Amino acid sequence: MNVRSTLAGILYNVFVPSLGRPKEALSERALQTAAQQAGAALLSGGYRLQWIPVRDRIEEIVAPIRRRRPAVIVNLCEGFRGHSAYEAQVAGLLELLDIPFTGNNSHALFQCHDKFRTNAILRASALPTPPSWLVEDERQLPAAARFPLIVKPNCEDASIGIYPHSVVRTRLALRKQVARVLAAYDQPALVESFVDGREISAAIVDQPEPRVLPLSEILFQHYPAGLPRIVGYDAKWQAAHPTYRGTVPVCPARVSPALEQRLTRFALQAWRVLKLRGYARVDFRLDARACPYILEVNPNPDTSREAGLARSLAAEGIAYEDFWRSQVRLALKKMKANHEN
Ligand SMILES: Nc1ncnc2c1ncn2[C@@H]1O[C@H](COP(=O)(O)OP(=O)(O)O)[C@@H](O)[C@H]1O
Ligand SMILES: [Mg+2]
Repeated sequence: MNVRSTLAGILYNVFVPSLGRPKEALSERALQTAAQQAGAALLSGGYRLQWIPVRDRIEEIVAPIRRRRPAVIVNLCEGFRGHSAYEAQVAGLLELLDIPFTGNNSHALFQCHDKFRTNAILRASALPTPPSWLVEDERQLPAAARFPLIVKPNCEDASIGIYPHSVVRTRLALRKQVARVLAAYDQPALVESFVDGREISAAIVDQPEPRVLPLSEILFQHYPAGLPRIVGYDAKWQAAHPTYRGTVPVCPARVSPALEQRLTRFALQAWRVLKLRGYARVDFRLDARACPYILEVNPNPDTSREAGLARSLAAEGIAYEDFWRSQVRLALKKMKANHEN
């Protein structure tokens, strides 16, 4: 296909204050930056662009696609109408519209959105995850869970709902935190063993075979004393917050060849088990004995230039522009292959 004539639609969420949680709006606003950067990368490669901002109506997705018939969609949507639970449905809508799109398909997005279920799938494939329990009622806490634990909303991302008090060391604190999550996020709470060690991520890109990029680590050296070492919401999004300044990403991570091999193997296995495509990020934590656990699999990670995936691309020597162009080519090729089958 002649790139010069190719129209690429950039599909992304626009934050609508009345729909989201105002306190946790920063993560949602960041998507617009990611969209601009992806668009600029394709524009410089000769693509024509169609911006498709999504607020709260599916017509905002369907009508522009029907009108201009882009050849491909760069799907950056992380939900719909302020709910991350609808992330998979947006991809599903694109599948029904029969239009190629970048990133993961609706099935993989749906699968990974539920952290408890993802843990179960990974464990069934002998991949290590922290012991975890799903709690829907604060009066029914897991009796076998050993402290310290972390309590998080089961189906969110971007560290939404994750703060220092998410890490609990007593039953009373556990009950309170579970109650908070149930009330504020309207979904079950995931209670997990707290893995108190290094935090390392593996970004994977399809090129067209999945390839693990240089590992990235969050260093906690300058993290405020007395707080549990986690990349909570403030650490991820509030630039002036002490936990933000105390969580410093480095890429490539300094790891032994043996550990690197192990994390790479686990990340690729998770990719295969969850039937991922395009790009993804697998997040690990190591315990005190350097045993890795998969914390979560992100089938729709932040693609902006400031985020982990872009850092890993740079460490591998892949230009950000090339990443987007190859993702678009891949999406077009996959669609063609589907139609030929
Ligand atoms: N079981 C755990 N043990 C230790 N830290 C954790 C655990 N679960 C989450 N965290 C911390 O909280 C952060 C966000 O949790 P994560 O499950 O990745 O949620 P999100 O999908 O919002 O990124 C992680 O990056 C990590 O710092
Ligand atoms: Mg995460």
